[in-house]
Parts: sequence; structure tokens; C-alpha cells
Amino acid sequence: MKQEIHFVTGKGGVGKSVVAAALALKLSRQGKKVLLVELGDQSFFKDFFELADVTFQPQLIKPNLSLALWTGESCLREYAQYLVKVESLAKLFFDNAVMRAFINIAPGLPELAMLGKITSGPRKYGPPMPFDCLVVDAFATGHFKALMEAPAGMAQAVQIGPMGEQSRSIIRVLTDPEVSKYHIVSLPEELPLKESTELSEMLQKEFSVEPTLVMNKVLDVNVPRASLQNAESLTTSDLGLFAQYLEQQLDRQSQMMDQAKTKFKKILKVPLFFETNPWTLVEKAVEKLP
Ligand SMILES: Nc1ncnc2c1ncn2[C@@H]1O[C@H](COP(=O)(O)OP(=O)(O)O)[C@@H](O)[C@H]1O
Ligand SMILES: [Mg+2]
Repeated sequence: MKQEIHFVTGKGGVGKSVVAAALALKLSRQGKKVLLVELGDQSFFKDFFELADVTFQPQLIKPNLSLALWTGESCLREYAQYLVKVESLAKLFFDNAVMRAFINIAPGLPELAMLGKITSGPRKYGPPMPFDCLVVDAFATGHFKALMEAPAGMAQAVQIGPMGEQSRSIIRVLTDPEVSKYHIVSLPEELPLKESTELSEMLQKEFSVEPTLVMNKVLDVNVPRASLQNAESLTTSDLGLFAQYLEQQLDRQSQMMDQAKTKFKKILKVPLFFETNPWTLVEKAVEKLP
């Protein structure tokens, strides 16, 4: 079986980390060895799951489920160390003054290093990656676009040599629908949905991939409309105002869902849970994933 890489992105604060954790937990329960990867300098899951530490080296947090935090710098350092072992490549890479100068100023190099590490399994490049699935709790929309564009930028800047070839091999993995899966998390609201749609269009156009929309925090109320309207008739009471608010929210939500259906082929709905325990919240989200 090919290693799968799941990228989870979306507007800031929409629930990317919770959805990524739920997806990772779900896959691990199917018997797959899963690595949940956080990108950036700060671990969200350290505080969320009250862990002692989250490091570059994966650590097991549940059966079949490991967690790691990868920064651009830690990925670059590992890449450099690995290259040094392949002497001729290291020479080509580091003994070249142009290349050295370039490394210092290259935009997108940390992003490229992170993607290099993320895709190292399918590319069979670098230290062993003993996992069946990677679930990447990736950057918010804007930075995610920059992440995705880094390999093409590099491939264009350096057409020959190991960097150019590696960038092209990373792109091959990112555009392989058997390997790379994209999940855009959104809320049933105007702005997050607009951002999600724009990102999806960019990914479809430039990478020919079909992202899934995960509509998160969907109000899942089983109160019949008639009851809401009935309560609204008591307009002077707080209950009446609340019923009115709820009905407006539900209407807007269904408008947003209709709009989403015109833009995404695959849509998952995750309800808004009233749950304060982090693992219970994640477990509840797991049940909503296919
Ligand atoms: N479906 C949900 N129901 C209730 N709370 C949620 C849900 N999804 C996320 N949350 C909460 O919303 C907040 C933001 O979620 P998080 O996953 O950290 O977002 P992001 O990673 O996009 O910044 C967190 O406090 C999280 O516990
Ligand atoms: Mg997050």
C-alpha cells in the first residue's frame, strides 16, 4: 500500500487541529500506523492534550498514533545531515558558492524543507518514515498556498541539480491523488467559505487535486421549525429572541451549505459539539468522518 498524506488546512480558528486529530485517530483505529504532524514553531496539541512535550521525533500518544512537530529549520537540518552522508551530493550542494548564497536568501526554503520531509516516504528519500499515513495539521489558508507553491518556485529557480530534481519529485507526490489528500476545514459562514473556495480553486487549477470540504461547527438542532416559530411569537421574552436568532442561524447555515455544494464535490459535516474534554471532542468528531 502506498503511504497516504492528508493535508488539513482552512481559515485560522475554524477547527483544523481538531479535524486533523480526529482524522488521525480514525485512521489509527483502522489499524494503520499514523503520524499526526504539526507544522510551525509552536505545538497546539501539547497544551490541548496536556502532553509533556512535542518534538521533531515522533512520539506515540495513542495506539498506532504518533505525534511530531516539524519546523522549517528542523527539516532543513535533517535534510542537510542526510545529504552529508551522500558525499557527492553534499559536495554539489554545499561547495557551490552560488547555491550557498541562494540558500541564505531563498524564499520558500523552509516550506520546501517541510514538504521534502512530509513527502520523503513516497519519494523513498531520507531517513525511514515508518508510517502508513501522515496527517498534516497544516498552516492556515494563506501560508498553505505559499507552502504548496514552494516546490514549483524552487524548481523554476534551480532547473538543474538535486534541488530542482527534488522539487519536481515533491510536486509529483503532491499531485498524486492516490497519495496526497486535501481537506479544507470551514465554518458555515461567508468569509471562511469564501477562503475555502478560493483555496480549492487554486489547488484544482495548479495541482489537479480535488479537496474535500469539512464543514465544521454545524449547528445540529433537532427542534422543529414550527416550535421555533411558535417560540418566536413570544417576542418579548428571551426565549422568543433566542428562537429567532436560532432560526436565522439555521437559515444562513443552509444557504452556506447550498453554496458549498456548488463548489465542492465532497463535503463532510461536523457538528458544533458542546464538549470541553479535548479527547472526547476529537472522538465525537471521529464518528462524523466517513
Ligand atoms: N466541532 C467542534 N465543536 C466544538 N468545538 C470545536 C469544534 N471544532 C473545533 N472546536 C474548538 O474550536 C477551537 C478552534 O479549533 P482548532 O482546531 O484549534 O482550530 P484551528 O486549528 O483551525 O486554529 C478549539 O477551542 C476547539 O476545541
Ligand atoms: Mg490549529
